[in-house]
Amino acid sequence: MKKLVVANWKANPATVAEAEDILAATDEYLAGVSTPPDLVFCPPFVFLTDVLSRLGEGRLVAAAALGAQDIAASDDRAQTGEVSGAQLKALGVRYVIVGHSERRAKLGEPDDVVHAKLLAALRHGITPILCVEEPGQLESAVGGLEAREVAGIVIAYEPSWAISTNPGARPDTPDNAVASSAFIRGTGARILYGGSVTPDNARGFLEHFDGVLVGGASVRKADFTAILSQS
Ligand code: PGA
Repeated sequence: MKKLVVANWKANPATVAEAEDILAATDEYLAGVSTPPDLVFCPPFVFLTDVLSRLGEGRLVAAAALGAQDIAASDDRAQTGEVSGAQLKALGVRYVIVGHSERRAKLGEPDDVVHAKLLAALRHGITPILCVEEPGQLESAVGGLEAREVAGIVIAYEPSWAISTNPGARPDTPDNAVASSAFIRGTGARILYGGSVTPDNARGFLEHFDGVLVGGASVRKADFTAILSQS
């Protein structure tokens, strides 16, 4: 199976012109490649429509899908500020990041909300990209799901200490990441590594995982295409 590279833009970039620039650079890179990896761009909500439209052009059509960074846990429409699974699905969103450590730690998102968001994604036919760093998070997120449902999701092993913006961050080593993510193996899910992935270390992670979840480097166009060139 092809490798999967997920770009988690977080609250970047500031403008739609910069977003377009990253996508144009990726499109240009893809022009010289015969078998690109599967790509998922997860922009902030405000850029979903623009990114979707650009993904309908050039080489991005065949290679890239649209992802969101969050989803409302419930389908209740009376939730000011939320974006529902029904809306994301209707727009053309195919993936959604769930359980990211920044939402858990900085925004206080507990395990039961992560579980509810995972269910919301599945209910609307959107593939969750579930981020976990220890077995308890995985168990609570997928609790009650059938094995075949778990096998159909994407699970990112992402140690929070490795995320580039956290104080003292450093990437894991591929060997250690493989050992630490043993609790995810056997689920049948596509398993990604995330945390300070750069052009310098991407190859090692891509050799041992089904793909990578890239944060900071995914909005630096030269870094991002250099990571793609290793997958
Ligand atoms: P990073 O972020 O690549 O900047 O470490 C990864 C993530 O938070 O998903």
